[in-house]
Amino acid sequence: MRNSLLGCLVFAALVTGAASAMAAGTITGTPHDLSGKGWGTTELCKFCHTPHLAQSVAGAPLWNHDSTKQSYTLYTSSTFKGNSTQPGPQSKLCLSCHDGTVAIDSFANAGIVQSGTHTMISIGATTNLIGGGGSLTSDHPISFTYNGALATLDGHLATPVSANFVDAANQIPLYNNPGRSSQLECASCHAVHDNTYGKFLRIANTGSALCLTCHQK
Ligand code: HEC
Ligand code: HEC
Ligand code: HEC
Ligand code: HEC
Repeated sequence: MRNSLLGCLVFAALVTGAASAMAAGTITGTPHDLSGKGWGTTELCKFCHTPHLAQSVAGAPLWNHDSTKQSYTLYTSSTFKGNSTQPGPQSKLCLSCHDGTVAIDSFANAGIVQSGTHTMISIGATTNLIGGGGSLTSDHPISFTYNGALATLDGHLATPVSANFVDAANQIPLYNNPGRSSQLECASCHAVHDNTYGKFLRIANTGSALCLTCHQK
């Protein structure tokens, strides 16, 4: 009796977990689960968010981490037509750990940011360094307007279904930031809380499916 009750509870927990694949809970056990590092908190979300006394980063979700002050050299090419600016809030959040200038454990306690000591470089995660040395020139362009006008100009792009999503299934988001709508950011391709497809990708990139959601060659 006791065993079958336990079985039921475990089963219920599994079903709940599966049903909430989009939920933040799936961050557990991923490379973004820093709770077991011994870096000053065992809380999963605290490295990035707080319910109160958040850092003021306009447009960012209740941010609890130090922000990068880096100014970046942006991607250019003779054919790129996007109006890229310095990274929008959602991308700046990523770069605040991934560009290597801010320690991963520089999160806040009750609004006061502590000085962490572990950077992407010091932990030897240089393959995950993006924007290192202030350069985004060798990275897919970000922080530009991706709308119907750009799709027409390019000639081989899907027309986003709205200012919030590229695709009808609403899997690939665009961001509306202060003064800038329909922005393609790091989080358009990456789901920071969910590693189902590896590399925190929004959808599987088998056969370049992720690329082909936007690029229709
Ligand atoms: C490694 C940093 C990191 C961790 C840890 C993290 N988040 Fe986030 N979160 C982000 C970033 C970056 C964004 C903005 C990009 C986006 O919207 O996907 C975000 C966005 C959000 C949003 C708003 C957008 C949405 O998806 O609804 C919520 C709510 C959220 N996080 C909740 C949580 C909760 C709850 C936890 C802990 C279980 C958590 N996050 C852990 C980085 C993190
Ligand atoms: C609080 C710091 C922090 C923030 C904020 C953060 N990351 Fe990370 N990220 C990490 C760490 C730490 C790792 C793992 C590094 C290692 O040990 O190799 C990682 C790993 C990754 C990986 C590699 C995963 C894999 O499977 O190898 C990707 C992709 C990634 N992050 C994307 C993002 C994106 C996109 C954002 C913003 C939407 C973001 N991260 C925000 C700290 C962060
Ligand atoms: C257009 C889609 C797209 C955008 C935008 C994008 N990424 Fe990625 N990213 C990918 C894909 C796809 C991979 C997996 C590459 C692979 O496995 O070969 C990846 C891999 C990564 C990795 C793992 C290291 C590596 O090179 O495999 C990190 C870290 C990362 N991205 C962070 C970021 C950050 C930070 C931003 C914003 C500055 C960003 N990404 C913007 C698609 C994107
Ligand atoms: C969320 C939509 C989206 C996804 C996903 C995406 N891209 Fe892009 N990509 C764009 C847009 C929009 C541009 C700007 C196109 C332009 O300027 O005409 C662009 C630009 C580029 C460029 C530069 C073009 C130039 O003229 O310099 C290349 C190359 C590229 N993407 C390759 C990829 C690859 C490879 C993938 C998959 C790993 C990918 N993209 C995923 C939307 C996306």
